Amino acid sequence: MAKPYRLNRWLIHTEDSVPSTQKWVRERLTELSDRTVVLAAAQTSGRGRSGKEWQSPPGGFYASFLLKPSPPLVYAPCVSLLAAKILTDLFRQQGISASVKWPNDVIVQEKKVAGIIAEAGSYPESWFILGIGVNLTGSPLIDERKFLPAGSWEQFGPAPAAGKLLKKFVEELDFSWSNREDDPMEGIISELNSILWRKGEQITLSGVTDSFSGIITGVEKDGSLLLLTDSGERCFVSGELQTVPEERR
Ligand code: BTN
Repeated sequence: MAKPYRLNRWLIHTEDSVPSTQKWVRERLTELSDRTVVLAAAQTSGRGRSGKEWQSPPGGFYASFLLKPSPPLVYAPCVSLLAAKILTDLFRQQGISASVKWPNDVIVQEKKVAGIIAEAGSYPESWFILGIGVNLTGSPLIDERKFLPAGSWEQFGPAPAAGKLLKKFVEELDFSWSNREDDPMEGIISELNSILWRKGEQITLSGVTDSFSGIITGVEKDGSLLLLTDSGERCFVSGELQTVPEERR
């Protein structure tokens, strides 16, 4: 195991391959200090949201950020959105037209290139772990999804090395959100809304039990999604966005 190094206010651990960086941090919660990151070269059981697997072959970016104590839990969706916005901006700095798919994916040309997961708990002490996966080179081979299949950075432009990406990400994160008690959306909301996937378009939002159709009008300051539905503008805090097939528009 390489010696941890400092990057701004963070202590970075690098690992060759771990089951999951989220799990790695969870298993060491008490011994790790606040603002620790683990960056792994590969994961064997990478975890996505909603119990999905996150394919993590070598050549990708797999990192988990530990904050303890946790920021106020109302900010959790906003931290994920801030992370998605920072990543999207990094793609855009290369002229790649990336967008933020609410609640926390990064999409380039209808391919998912990055995903984010935020987890928090209060045992044995208050903690928050932000997990970020970016496909840098190649793209997960076994991707049978028709809708927004995985894509990788190198398909659209020169992919940064994982360590370089981490440095840029951390610099931006610390610049935009230096205090966990502050609102992570402060100062980014209008820019976030300008890079929002399918803004102004008809989409379907699927929840656990039901789904809604409407036009995306934007993201609110609390991280919720605004949809213009048949019954007026409605606000949603969770769900999975999908495009509406052409014949149903
Ligand atoms: C998603 O889009 O479903 C979220 C994917 C999050 C993947 C990252 S990779 C680093 C960290 N470790 C994990 O096991 N998952 C997250």
